[in-house]
Amino acid sequence: MDKFVVRGGIELNGSISVRGAKNAILPMIAGALLLEKGECIIHNVPDISDIRNFLSLIELLGAKSRFNTEERTLIINAENLSNPEAPYDIVRKMRASFLVTGALLARFGHAMVALPGGCSIGARPVNLHIEGFKRLGAKITEEKGYILAQADKLKGKTIYFDRPSHTGTENIMMAAANAEGTTRIINAACDPEVKSFADFLNSMGAKIYGAGTPYIMIEGVPSLSPTEFTPIGDRLEAGTYLYGALITGGDIEVSGVDPQHLEFPLLKMREMGAEIKTTSSTIRLRMRGKPKSVNLTTFPYPGFPTDLQPMAMVAATICDGTSYIRETVFENRFNHVMELIRLGGMIAVAGDTATVTGTEKLRGAEVMASDIRAGAALTLAGLVADGKTEILRVYHIDRGYERLEEKLSSLGASIERTQQ
Ligand code: EPU
Repeated sequence: MDKFVVRGGIELNGSISVRGAKNAILPMIAGALLLEKGECIIHNVPDISDIRNFLSLIELLGAKSRFNTEERTLIINAENLSNPEAPYDIVRKMRASFLVTGALLARFGHAMVALPGGCSIGARPVNLHIEGFKRLGAKITEEKGYILAQADKLKGKTIYFDRPSHTGTENIMMAAANAEGTTRIINAACDPEVKSFADFLNSMGAKIYGAGTPYIMIEGVPSLSPTEFTPIGDRLEAGTYLYGALITGGDIEVSGVDPQHLEFPLLKMREMGAEIKTTSSTIRLRMRGKPKSVNLTTFPYPGFPTDLQPMAMVAATICDGTSYIRETVFENRFNHVMELIRLGGMIAVAGDTATVTGTEKLRGAEVMASDIRAGAALTLAGLVADGKTEILRVYHIDRGYERLEEKLSSLGASIERTQQ
């Protein structure tokens, strides 16, 4: 296992660009399974382990993929897809694997996919996905930890989500793309990645309207065609670098991201004292002095993203005053708190709210990553902690960030990857 060794106290400065959004590309890989003839080509793909694992899964199902890591191009051919069964061994490593359910159901009329189980950030049930498949006419049974979905012909219907689900919305879009008639999703997830995924399916000939809003309409089409597509830039990768510059008092420009996708985080960064200038695809953040305290509540898009809450909390630990950070998307996304306390952060959690009292300095220590975003946040904390911080279990970070240590080093950070 690898670890990061970070030496704190250096400002982040310079320019950096982001790759395509992980959470848009994962559903695209699943969506490529809908294609019976020809290939799907996806550009600007990051080389991260979630994508590698997803490719192993679709190969197990009978699809072929070629990932040219120099050109950053991923080619998927699902002509010989033959096995509608996604085993627990892969699904448990990556919940997004459940995304193959909608595609397999649409392609074969049946799918057998392991139930993902809980993960470190919460129970994360898939009831909304399942209720949606049922509404479209699928018969769902559960056997030995697997979901068996079966349908002679999926038929368009109106599906009401009690709450917006990101991958739930994507799963239903895939199941409905070839269904008979029109499907409507009410209270759909509005995330930019969901919109980018709908654009991808539309580029294959699907008829999806309203993605990016809570009302999505999908008119079923008989078949889809090959496509070549570039996903949106990764707003969460961009947000991570921006918080890095904010806490170190740096000056960076991030390119390849649409600032509108980060409207809420940028507002909160400004409230903390950052100067921010944007163009249609770049964000420049300049920070002078100590950050000011901030209150925020995570909420489904366009609210403040739960995925940037751990980074915002790192900023709160070193600011002037007290910040209140409320997590409403996942019930357990405070795993980084105990680790930040090890670094000298003053944080108290009661229910869904963390009260963070700013302190003069964090102090380097050994900490452990427990999920992608907690790991990235702890790495940022190391950038401002006195002395040496070691982040263990870097494999969590590698799931969602390509060589985070090299990216941060290119902005001046002192960080290296060594064996744990
Ligand atoms: N939920 C249900 N029932 C469902 C589905 C969701 O109760 O059937 C609940 C969840 O338990 C959670 C909330 O609804 O409390 C939101 O979950 P959502 O389904 O939107 O999350 P997801 O689709 O499993 C995606 C991202 C996550 C990101 C969340 C929230 C992908 C592959 N994953 O997960 O990304 O945190 O949306 O925006 O798109 C990450 O990139 O590090 C990551 C965890």
